[in-house]
Amino acid sequence: MTIITIDGPSGAGKSTIAKMLSKKLNYNYLDTGAMYRAITFAMLKKSIDLQNEELICKALDSIDLEFSDNIKLDGDIIDSQIRSNLVTKNVSLISSYKCVRDILVEYQRCFAKGNDTILDGRDTGSVVLPDADFKFYLTASVEARAKRRYEEYKEEREDSYNDVLEDIKRRDDFDMNRDISPLIIPNNSILVDSTDMSIDETVEYIYNHIKRKDK
Ligand code: DC
Repeated sequence: MTIITIDGPSGAGKSTIAKMLSKKLNYNYLDTGAMYRAITFAMLKKSIDLQNEELICKALDSIDLEFSDNIKLDGDIIDSQIRSNLVTKNVSLISSYKCVRDILVEYQRCFAKGNDTILDGRDTGSVVLPDADFKFYLTASVEARAKRRYEEYKEEREDSYNDVLEDIKRRDDFDMNRDISPLIIPNNSILVDSTDMSIDETVEYIYNHIKRKDK
């Protein structure tokens, strides 16, 4: 059984790359960021004051989320809703609450138990599974990350490149400086800077690293 974690800041391409790798290696895949997004979406839908940590913690018991190939809230697929601007703007706050992290971290550890698994997020190699077999920290310049995010949903976007850039800077700052499980480069991780690499090149680089060292 092999566990691979990929952490890094917003827009580094973690999810795209982790998904491609999981297909190439035939591993299970868990997008942990999508889980924080799903909780944020559920709280927004319930019109709960997101600044009120106590209320958010209480409401966690009453939300019916399902994480499988699709993410479902009360049985409805919410894969595209969790990518909305509103969710993106609020997810860092929700993911800074201890009660939210406790529940999701436990789920993530269970998911990885006994299966070849790739997880991507902010703390998968530092907190969730620090003994993972391969830990990668994937990053790129803030401008390259903003450009990729902007291009990704260009047709549906109402915001400009500069809005995306500012949002990524704000989230970097929030994710790296929060008290609980801040975004850090995990111990013994391999740093991959994809600023000048295409997605395919990055996948190939990580894949080759795993195949070279595979036990
Ligand atoms: O990777 P993403 O942009 O979908 O992640 C959304 C947010 O969730 C991100 O701003 C920080 C948070 N997150 C986290 O705190 N821990 C994780 N393991 C994954 C994401």
